[in-house]
Amino acid sequence: AVVSKYATSSARHGTLDPAASLRMTHTATPTGTATAWAGINIALVKYWGKRDAAANLPAVGSLSLTLAELGTRTTVTFDPTLTDDRFELNGVARDDDARVRALLDGVRRLRCLDRRARVVSRNHVPTASGLASSASGAAALAVAAWAASGGDPTVARADAAFVDLVRRGSGSAPRSLYGGLVELDRSDGQVHPVLPPEAWNLRMVVARLAHGPKATSSREGMARTARTSPYYAAWIAAHPADLVEARAAIEARDLARLGTVMERSTARMHACMLAADPPLRYWNGRTLDALDVVAGLRAAGVGAWATMDAGPHVKVLCADADAEAVRSALCAVAPEDDLQITRPGPGAHVEPR
Ligand code: DP6
Repeated sequence: AVVSKYATSSARHGTLDPAASLRMTHTATPTGTATAWAGINIALVKYWGKRDAAANLPAVGSLSLTLAELGTRTTVTFDPTLTDDRFELNGVARDDDARVRALLDGVRRLRCLDRRARVVSRNHVPTASGLASSASGAAALAVAAWAASGGDPTVARADAAFVDLVRRGSGSAPRSLYGGLVELDRSDGQVHPVLPPEAWNLRMVVARLAHGPKATSSREGMARTARTSPYYAAWIAAHPADLVEARAAIEARDLARLGTVMERSTARMHACMLAADPPLRYWNGRTLDALDVVAGLRAAGVGAWATMDAGPHVKVLCADADAEAVRSALCAVAPEDDLQITRPGPGAHVEPR
């Protein structure tokens, strides 16, 4: 039989002798089950646009914060009795999900495995609402499937082929493989941790400002923007300076500087989308109301900065000490149930059984 290079990947990293890691593969497969958690990540410096659609390589780099409280929990079981993959999301069968199947196929290819899988997934975040559940979903699925096949996800996340798989699932998903502040490189689509979650006492106050799925997927929206927005080239050209600025702000632990570049990156991304044909507008009226609240907080001396992605929701970056003030100010635009203070969280990981 062909032995995948991943069967010996822990040996390559010096943690086990080759024979032991092969045995690990063989003994782990019959058990064949693992559960993983992945937190959602919110981009501070945004990704929008692809330079290679097939490999889902981004046209720009990005820098994000992985959150602790919101995310996806997924259990994968490779089951010799199954003739087809089974996928359940939030208690509903979704067996025909092409992205899930493609990710499982990729793991099977890398691990030389042909068993079908049973996948049970639950989002602790509204699905397809623009709150990044596709990123945590792909990261949790990949990590659970990798572990269920006997592999070590903490080794795999530093491996280009594994990260390529995760990124094909969702362009922003590799960022959820690491905790805290994380950067995704434009050059090769790989990810690396910038600052661990415990290193900086940041908070992200999440205001959910609509219910139900978004009208246009990120994938479709990006393609339309690249094809039709006259500002797309300007967005790509101006982007690297935002990444440089964000790295410097993080290095200096300068929250005002980081918040400022985050708002600028957000505004430029949305301006570029608004100029697409037909225009892409993910915001609603409450988005603007929330931005007014954040501007008011800043005018009153509270350090708070807002960002939006492919949805109307507003995420406010602030210091631990200001989070409660931010949350209570946002009560003017959203009921308490739709507001949540979140903290930097760990990277996607296997949970003990
Ligand atoms: C606006 O990762 O959802 O949230 O690569 O097509 O799966 P695909 O898109 P996705 O895009 C996220 C875009 C964004 C900005 C960001 O997270 O960087």
